[in-house]
Amino acid sequence: MSQNIKAFVFDAYGTLYDVRSVEERVEAAFPGKGRLISSIWRLKQLEYSWLVTLMERYEDFWSLTVRSLEYTLYSLGLSADRDLLHNIAAAYLDLKPYDDARSCLERLRPGRRAILSNGSGSMLSDLAVNSGLDRSLDMILSVEAKRVFKPAPQAYSLVEEQLGVTPHEVIFVSSNGFDICGAKSFGFTVVRVARVDAGDVVERLARGGVDEGVLYGLLRGQAEALAYPADFTVRSLAEIPSLFDDRERTE
Ligand code: LAC
Repeated sequence: MSQNIKAFVFDAYGTLYDVRSVEERVEAAFPGKGRLISSIWRLKQLEYSWLVTLMERYEDFWSLTVRSLEYTLYSLGLSADRDLLHNIAAAYLDLKPYDDARSCLERLRPGRRAILSNGSGSMLSDLAVNSGLDRSLDMILSVEAKRVFKPAPQAYSLVEEQLGVTPHEVIFVSSNGFDICGAKSFGFTVVRVARVDAGDVVERLARGGVDEGVLYGLLRGQAEALAYPADFTVRSLAEIPSLFDDRERTE
């Protein structure tokens, strides 16, 4: 396949940044419950993004991040005042980038490198600056501009509009199943980063039954059984630059 690649566009949460890194802050506030809370919280956060999009009642991702944390805590019989809620939610502004993120972005030059994320503009700029990845990115796109969340096609159309490229010229990278389907359906060439070791999840299930980590892995670990599969699957971002070595990359 000959292809002129003009842009590499990355999902943020779970792809460049490890959403599991909120666990430490949650654990400090609710000892023994860090893994459980952060797992339910992430699933609810995404569910709320799809709900408000379908209802046509957009609220930005920060608001949904706080609301989904609120849900998680009260569903577990826990409570937090507004300050604590916001303090824990702020972990999303300071997530740990995956070890392979910076070198991957650097190696993709001279292709343009962007984020397209559900995060609000202000969440994403805090995240990029706090992690230093801002220096390896050419553009940060927030779906906020369209007031819908991925996988709505209007969200992906921001890439065309803001980077001035056609879907054909874009490699889209995500570890999130719903995002992979949405990006593929939109017309991008898609790379799936398999962050969860699905084999390990099955083994843990066989050994010890279902705990919160296993349940999360079962819900999020596999490629979706929908009609929009990724074009490539990798285990790490480090594998991506060599996938496209033989293709022309232009600015
Ligand atoms: C994002 C979510 C989907 O970064 O992970 O857009």
